[in-house]
Amino acid sequence: MSVTETAAQVASKDERPAAPLATDTFRHSRPAIVGPDAPEPPFPIVLSGTVQRGFGRGGKDLGCPTANLPDESILPMSSVTRTGVYFGYAQISPEKDSKALLQEQDCQVLPMVMSLGWNPFYKNERMTAEIHIMHEFASDFYGHEMKAIVLGYIRAELDYVSREALIEDIETDKRVALKSLARPGYEKFRADPLFDGGHSRL
Ligand SMILES: Cc1cc2nc3c(=O)[nH]c(=O)nc-3n(C[C@H](O)[C@H](O)[C@H](O)COP(=O)(O)O)c2cc1C
Repeated sequence: MSVTETAAQVASKDERPAAPLATDTFRHSRPAIVGPDAPEPPFPIVLSGTVQRGFGRGGKDLGCPTANLPDESILPMSSVTRTGVYFGYAQISPEKDSKALLQEQDCQVLPMVMSLGWNPFYKNERMTAEIHIMHEFASDFYGHEMKAIVLGYIRAELDYVSREALIEDIETDKRVALKSLARPGYEKFRADPLFDGGHSRL
């Protein structure tokens, strides 16, 4: 992944960057799998923080709820990568006081897709890092701890002519992420010692 300008450098300019429009040609010719056979620098990138509420459009508008990370938790990534859509693994760890609210199956290491940027379709004024964990959660997990390992880059963040087109591309992102993670060089990060219940790195 070549990085001409990191997300943090763009953010320091204090203005929302222009984003290209997703063309039909791009959307209909996307690769099914991305990246080399195993993560290459700057990946893996480790992120952790308390899950925050976003604007809530991910779940309502897009059928794709996202967990936002606090600004200070984004820096290990935004200082070395550009904005865009990424994939990896994530785990929600219950905060001690509120363990009862999380079911055991919701605390597994799970595949995720992530968006880092200004969400051009929604014209956000600030950069955010939003993680969509590919799992049906029994309950919300705002306020709990999230740990994530980002393993690869999928595509640039784009503007869209319609909500439907954005939804379709996010669905493609999820399929690409699952296929890309189903390679031994990526799958082994499920057991990374970062995660609770993780084993030593293979
Ligand atoms: C995998 C993935 C890819 C995304 N790609 C884009 C994109 O290319 N352009 C865009 O404007 N927003 C993109 N989004 C961000 C959504 O617009 C965002 O999740 C939505 O606005 C929900 O944010 P909210 O929960 O803060 O309301 C993407 C989100 C995910 C999870």
